[in-house]
Amino acid sequence: MRPLLIVLLLLAACTSTEDTAKDDTAGDADTDTDTDTDTDTDTDTDTDTDTDTDTDTDTDTDTDTDVPPDGAALFASTCANCHGADGGGGVGPALASELTRPDAEWIEIILLGKDEMPAQPMVEVEAQAVVDWCRSTL
Ligand code: HEC
Repeated sequence: MRPLLIVLLLLAACTSTEDTAKDDTAGDADTDTDTDTDTDTDTDTDTDTDTDTDTDTDTDTDTDTDVPPDGAALFASTCANCHGADGGGGVGPALASELTRPDAEWIEIILLGKDEMPAQPMVEVEAQAVVDWCRSTL
């Protein structure tokens, strides 16, 4: 049984080896005729006429009241030389006893000077901060 099957298979294999591949005889006649005729006519006419008329009129009258001046630091850098670091007096008189004067008077003395005391280079809010510091500390 087995050997017969193998023989049959071999026979089948041998008889089917005759491939008759026919040649392609397709007559391809490619005739590409590309006729590109690009006629670009760009005519850009940019006429930019920018007329900027910025009239900024900033009228900032900011006297920064957001961050209060440091009265202690100002006293140390401006007043301590003459009145002592603790306001106890030096070239200028001791200041503790002067606290009976109203703020406005202190500020006037600081900004404008008084007799022997020269005007101090600071603005009103700074003078006020110094006075506040003196009142709370001296
Ligand atoms: C250059 C030295 C000098 C500096 C700086 C100075 N003072 Fe005076 N200050 C004097 C003298 C001197 C007097 C006395 C003025 C007078 O003849 O009455 C005086 C007077 C004063 C008085 C009035 C006391 C009085 O007897 O009439 C006050 C208040 C005062 N000073 C505060 C300040 C404060 C606050 C600062 C800092 C912002 C300051 N001074 C900076 C020298 C100074």
